[in-house]
Amino acid sequence: MLAANKTSIGSLIIMAMVFGSCVANGEYLEEGRKLAGNPVFDITKFGAVGDGRTNTFKAFLKTWIQVCSSPVPATLLVPRGNFLAGPVIFAGPCRSKVTVEVRGTITATTSGFATPEWFLFERVDNVLLTGPGTFHGRGEAVWAADGCGKKAKCNLPPTSLKFRNIVNLEISGISSVNAKAFHMFLVKTVNVNIHHIKLIAPAESPNTDGIHLSNADNVRITDSFIATGDDCVSVGRGCNGVNVERVTCGPGHGLSVGSLGKYPNEEDVSDINFKNCTMKNTDNGLRIKSWGGSSPSKAEHIHFENIIMENVKNPIIIDQNYGSRGGDSRVAINEVLFKNIRGTTITKDFVQFMCSKSIPCKGVNVVDVNLNFVGNRGGHQSSSGGLIGSLCDHVNFISGGRINFPLCPK
Ligand SMILES: *[C@@H]1O[C@H](CO)[C@@H](O)[C@H](O)[C@H]1NC(C)=O
Repeated sequence: MLAANKTSIGSLIIMAMVFGSCVANGEYLEEGRKLAGNPVFDITKFGAVGDGRTNTFKAFLKTWIQVCSSPVPATLLVPRGNFLAGPVIFAGPCRSKVTVEVRGTITATTSGFATPEWFLFERVDNVLLTGPGTFHGRGEAVWAADGCGKKAKCNLPPTSLKFRNIVNLEISGISSVNAKAFHMFLVKTVNVNIHHIKLIAPAESPNTDGIHLSNADNVRITDSFIATGDDCVSVGRGCNGVNVERVTCGPGHGLSVGSLGKYPNEEDVSDINFKNCTMKNTDNGLRIKSWGGSSPSKAEHIHFENIIMENVKNPIIIDQNYGSRGGDSRVAINEVLFKNIRGTTITKDFVQFMCSKSIPCKGVNVVDVNLNFVGNRGGHQSSSGGLIGSLCDHVNFISGGRINFPLCPK
């Protein structure tokens, strides 16, 4: 571990020399403004110009080298102004805790993306990304090209903020606007606290998932606002212990677990909780989705509780034939709870449980669901011929409390 650290700091120093900056101790304390004992490195001191036209990615890199090699906790500061930037990689490991504080706006270039992300935080432990600034992805320029939809193979435009191989990550106070594809994508991250963020893109922008998680453990996402063109929060393969609370979604495609089973040998998903969220005008409310023809895996202990819906299409849905390579899904869905779900929907089949024929859903609990149909603006037609109904295939369900529609009548 120590050896790896040394090598990496060594290579950072070499990079620093390449960019003509000096990391001798005295100099770096001089360049960094000291605040409460900890150095703050302002990107404008490293060549960034906040005029909205000068590409500042080199300044980001030079500043990052100082921050990441600081022996004491240090801050990379993006002051007020509009900073144009192409792809930026914040690579660790770093010597101490790092903070990236964005007060201004960072605007993406419209070309020059060799990597599938705009900002990538990689192997940085103990990192805080904080606001009140904005990442503007200028996705308008790429959305016109057909999105990936349910295609099995497709290269998405870059994610605005990607976090990979990180332990202890906090994200707060920032906004992401018009991401080219995902706003945030977390892969192999442990102990994550995301709160008070805003993610915004138009309803018709393709693949602009708010927050997508993959192989993430112990994640909290709270008190945030996500209005976008694809899933609000999507919890993918190998996630365990994810809590999403007090998040407002809409427009967008709702809160999802999945899609699962798209790739061979996906890791199991368990202990995923969505609580006290509000869904406004979303296509899909609460959803679990898996691919047909998948390899075997499990998705268990998935709870949706205290959810308010306004004009939501497909409010409660398990779709095990989301995309297909042919054949049944072999993602086993066990122990799911939909509890205290209320508000309005524009789909007559309030509940759609379309589970796998070969591995039926087990222990799907529906408790206290009170939805009102407020007119059909699309969505699934009722299975019961125009009346309010539900669609139930291969599901072992348990109902309780008050439910204001016929749930899976025989
Ligand atoms: C969550 O929702 C429930 C039911 O509406 C409510 O009683 C509770 O106070 C809410 N909790 C929080 C932390 O917002």
